[in-house]
Amino acid sequence: MQETTMRKDWDGRAQDDALFWVMSKKDGWKTKEDYYASGRADVEKYVLPFFARHGIAPDDRFTALDIGCGTGRLVRALAAHCGHVTGIDISTEMIKRAREDNAHLTNVEWVVGDGTGLRPCPDAGVDFCFSFIVFQHIPSKRVVTSYFREILRVLKPGGRAKFQLRGTPGNPPGKVLWYKGFNTFYIALTLWRRFLPLPWIHRYDTVYGACFARTEVQKALEAVGFDEVSTYHETDRYLWAEVRKPR
Ligand SMILES: C[S@@+](CC[C@H](N)C(=O)[O-])C[C@H]1O[C@@H](n2cnc3c(N)ncnc32)[C@H](O)[C@@H]1O
Repeated sequence: MQETTMRKDWDGRAQDDALFWVMSKKDGWKTKEDYYASGRADVEKYVLPFFARHGIAPDDRFTALDIGCGTGRLVRALAAHCGHVTGIDISTEMIKRAREDNAHLTNVEWVVGDGTGLRPCPDAGVDFCFSFIVFQHIPSKRVVTSYFREILRVLKPGGRAKFQLRGTPGNPPGKVLWYKGFNTFYIALTLWRRFLPLPWIHRYDTVYGACFARTEVQKALEAVGFDEVSTYHETDRYLWAEVRKPR
């Protein structure tokens, strides 16, 4: 049910203005070139230092998976560093645009996923998993934690993953209450919108996703079976997790 809503919403957004919905224009890009350059900048900011810190020097056999790849903004950038990159996304329309925009790339593959897992990716086939500005839109913690298990499944032993979630601000306590209250209030309003004539309320259910506390994510990832789990807040909204699959 939730999976159907997520696909329908993101297919609609891709048809409306895919690049805007992947990276809203207020984030500083104007042309498609800028948009793909922003993908390179994100990989330079988030991925390359992570590789360096863990002594990862990708070669032709190094494989990466980008979860929630959209039109391939990050896959294109990752493909310049990795032997092979798979982009998976719940939206058929996003994947269609990813294929069109990146037809010149020979080391990438595009997959439409079911929105909760990484099938058809095989067990233990990937060296590195990445995901940015995707889990923050998923309204259900159940779905996000299902992705945790799937990341563990598809990584090779010793493989690593880095992904971003929507964080709950830790301080000050008043802000937590406000944030949680706002989240609950808005989701409730969104649900009421189905029954009440409130056209001025935008649907936020697959944009404004579930918020996680840092300790909650840390424990969930350890319980799933990762080792070398580390989590940090870049901002209130950008909560990052880095994990390794045990050897
Ligand atoms: C804001 S865009 C980010 C795209 C890409 N990560 C980037 O940074 O360029 C969010 C993407 O996540 C995808 N998405 C949303 N919910 C998903 C889910 N449950 N499973 C997989 N992909 C999902 C959307 O279709 C959309 O392409």
